[in-house]
Amino acid sequence: MSRTLLILPGDGIGPEAMAETVKVIDWFNANRATGFEIEEDLVGGCAYDVHGKPLADATMDRAQQVDAVLLGAVGGPKWDNLDFSVKPERGLLRLRKEMDLFANLRPAICFPALADASSLKKELVEGLDLMIIRELTGGVYFGEPRGITQMNDGTRRGVNTQVYTTEEIRRVARVAFDLARKRSNRVLSSEKANVMESGILWREEVQWVHDNEFPDVELSHMYADAVAMQLVRRPKQFDVIVTDNLFGDILSDEASMLSGSLGMLPSASLGAADPATGKRKALYEPVHGSAPDIAGQGIANPLACILSFAMCLRYSFDMGADADLLEAAVSKVLDDGVRTGDIAEPGVAPVGTKEMGDAVVAALGALA
Ligand code: NAI
Ligand code: MG
Repeated sequence: MSRTLLILPGDGIGPEAMAETVKVIDWFNANRATGFEIEEDLVGGCAYDVHGKPLADATMDRAQQVDAVLLGAVGGPKWDNLDFSVKPERGLLRLRKEMDLFANLRPAICFPALADASSLKKELVEGLDLMIIRELTGGVYFGEPRGITQMNDGTRRGVNTQVYTTEEIRRVARVAFDLARKRSNRVLSSEKANVMESGILWREEVQWVHDNEFPDVELSHMYADAVAMQLVRRPKQFDVIVTDNLFGDILSDEASMLSGSLGMLPSASLGAADPATGKRKALYEPVHGSAPDIAGQGIANPLACILSFAMCLRYSFDMGADADLLEAAVSKVLDDGVRTGDIAEPGVAPVGTKEMGDAVVAALGALA
């Protein structure tokens, strides 16, 4: 079985975090005979500097062919004034669009050693492990008509349109139910069916997928504003939450902050399953950006990138036990008090990016 990874470190702290992730991949190859083959290429500002665009066509082609893509981060002040069409973010958007990555998985996990760092009380977040699945390629960010028009009275009118089709809703719902079966077997679907027709359709179609294909999974529905409240009130009531692009954008950012630092947050974006192999196109990346304020200093937290690889093991290669091992190694490192600056308590001397990567590799060795 081929296991080819396309690694796109990108800009800023992306390459620093990715170098530590490669150490982890090397560990799995050396100790678990996983046989990952790594290809590396450019995305973002660094690709623009070489190719005049943030993602070369040849890179796009490889992304379509490999088993999974791991991305660091893109962007930075050097490229802020570029034309919109060639900005570094466009490279990432092109990957998402052409690979048709319609399901964005954002876990919010609270590692026990970091429970004190949450803005919520420790007992509310300790042991938190929820997953938000955000529909990523439809909804109000893409719906037509859109635009700003000039009115006859001299004022202007801005329009965006929330559009969802049966199939767009069903396919992301299937990802949620599928995932729930591997977790607590519960899905909460969220929309605003009280005030939006697209929300009514969302609710009906998610229910349809449940009734026809996943009757064994427990399904409930909650309005998105209520989810926003409940996430800060009693977040541990949730397991898998599936929602649309706009609400998912907001709710996943809210949920992610329950567990502390941006430097800890992984994500996965999944596409349709290949009918022949069942394999989904997939891209894994930390939630954070290129952090120009700390880039080049060797102090970035690589754990978000490393945990993104754990998601890759689980979702692209069905290597759940290895994903568990990697997450346990990260947890052990945190339990041992190893901290980069972004997660260090006052008075704790932080380690650098490389030391954190080495600590994870050492913990893998100790736990395996
Ligand atoms: P950012 O996530 O890069 O940084 C926000 C803050 O968090 C900064 O103070 C940064 O130092 C800190 N931080 C982020 N990741 C960290 C880590 N791993 N370890 C320690 N500290 C960390 O977001 P910002 O500043 O809004 O954007 C910076 C650049 O990144 C911009 O060019 C933006 O367009 C781009 N960006 C790219 C994303 C991507 O590649 N997916 C996502 C978000 C922003
Ligand atoms: Mg957001």
